[in-house]
Amino acid sequence: MRKPDDVFDREREWAALTRFAEDPDDEMRLAVVSGRRRQGKTFLLQALADMVGGFYFVAVESTSADALRQFGAAVASYLGVQGTMAFTNWDEAITYLLDHCRDRLVILDEFPYLMKADPSIPSILQREIDARGAPRGGGGRVRLVLAGSAMSVMGRLLAGQAPLRGRASLDVVVQPFDYRVARQFWGISDPRLAVQVNAILGGTPAYRTRFVDNEAPGDDLDDWVTRRVLSPETPLFREARYLLSNEMEIRDEALYHAVLGAIAAGNNTRGGIASHMERKSTDIAHPLAVLEDCRLIRKEIDPIRKRSIYRVAEPLVTFYEAIMRPAWSQLERGWADRVWQGSRARFASQVVGPHFEHVCREFALDFDWDGELAAEVAAGIASGSGKGPNIEVDVIALAPQDSNKRRLLSVGEAKWSETMSLGHLRRLEQARDQLHMRGLDTRDTVLALYGGAGFDTALTEVAARDPRVLLVDLPMLYG
Ligand SMILES: Nc1ncnc2c1ncn2[C@@H]1O[C@H](COP(=O)(O)OP(=O)(O)OP(=O)(O)O)[C@@H](O)[C@H]1O
Ligand SMILES: [Mg+2]
Repeated sequence: MRKPDDVFDREREWAALTRFAEDPDDEMRLAVVSGRRRQGKTFLLQALADMVGGFYFVAVESTSADALRQFGAAVASYLGVQGTMAFTNWDEAITYLLDHCRDRLVILDEFPYLMKADPSIPSILQREIDARGAPRGGGGRVRLVLAGSAMSVMGRLLAGQAPLRGRASLDVVVQPFDYRVARQFWGISDPRLAVQVNAILGGTPAYRTRFVDNEAPGDDLDDWVTRRVLSPETPLFREARYLLSNEMEIRDEALYHAVLGAIAAGNNTRGGIASHMERKSTDIAHPLAVLEDCRLIRKEIDPIRKRSIYRVAEPLVTFYEAIMRPAWSQLERGWADRVWQGSRARFASQVVGPHFEHVCREFALDFDWDGELAAEVAAGIASGSGKGPNIEVDVIALAPQDSNKRRLLSVGEAKWSETMSLGHLRRLEQARDQLHMRGLDTRDTVLALYGGAGFDTALTEVAARDPRVLLVDLPMLYG
């Protein structure tokens, strides 16, 4: 089945979903499709349903009786029954649907709302899947897809003691586009502009199609940001807040914004976040866990010291916390220009700088390090063990752990707005030597300098002679 032309990228997801829909086995199968808001789950699933003539139902937040009525109407219309199906409960409704869709694709979108309407739905589905399995003589080729974006709910659907655990044959997480795909999607040729746009809007497809009417910034980023992001009339204006309020688990939004704000301000350890908020470390354990559960933040492990580092997972949230929230009332009054002029420095240091480091780690993850791919890439600290300074390294790329000493493929430093020089190289050499003292094999370690603003002549000359020094400029980052 050919992917429709208007679906950009998503080759892997499309292949997995069509394989699932076309699987000829004579038993019921379950797939789960999740992913944060606006990533294109519905878009993909509707395209799939259209192609195979499947049943597609999207739940909305409502009472159980109301939801059941809507479901009845949708089923009737799909099956060509006059009027509506008046189901008395979800058990009856679901059994009826599955009985009448024996050879079809059935998609239940926004499934968390259905679960909220009736929490027993997963158990009903479990029973039906088990009853319609091959050992029972087959239940027809029902292909059931459950989709939704409340990550905390969707994540738990198949976990632990959940009724549907072990029942899904496909589990697709629709992720944001990576930085390279995002640039193509936006059609931005200047890589410098592409990094900045990516630092604001990340890889969420809908932010281009639905939120800015497909308008990519031209030469004037300032004008575009003030019109498209910072003006109260634009849908992006409230989007970051909406991402948080959309999560069912989150009640005390002010607390959660404070946590996100602390991280966006550059505090990445639990202690650092807590002290920025003037709270005890134990007070923020729960919000951190919930935010991680909803995939709004990401926990990364410093591969050397094994400490947790927290990062905001959605660029727009970082942008909101760093630029918009502090100036919210001015923005509401329509002073986008003034606010933006006053936050340019913060935009470079708190938004683009850290995002650029992230992009460099993504680059390092699929770069060919002399015939080897990194198994792990993270930021970390090369500690001086009392003899030298602790050096923060932006990009540590490690080979897979085998029985020998672990190989350090690369240490890297990323600078967005500062020309890189021999001083940066010396610092990396020292970091490498300190990591050697910590037990890593550094014989072939590549010293990588990622420069958003270029490299000076002396450094360029050294790099030209030394194959262990790698200069990565913006075109190479996107190459
Ligand atoms: N692969 C893609 N190619 C082109 N446009 C896309 C793609 N994915 C998403 N979009 C655009 O983003 C819009 C929003 O996507 P969609 O509504 O499917 O997201 P979703 O993941 O279902 O979000 P929600 O959780 O909010 O329902 C689509 O209508 C479409 O314009
Ligand atoms: Mg959707």
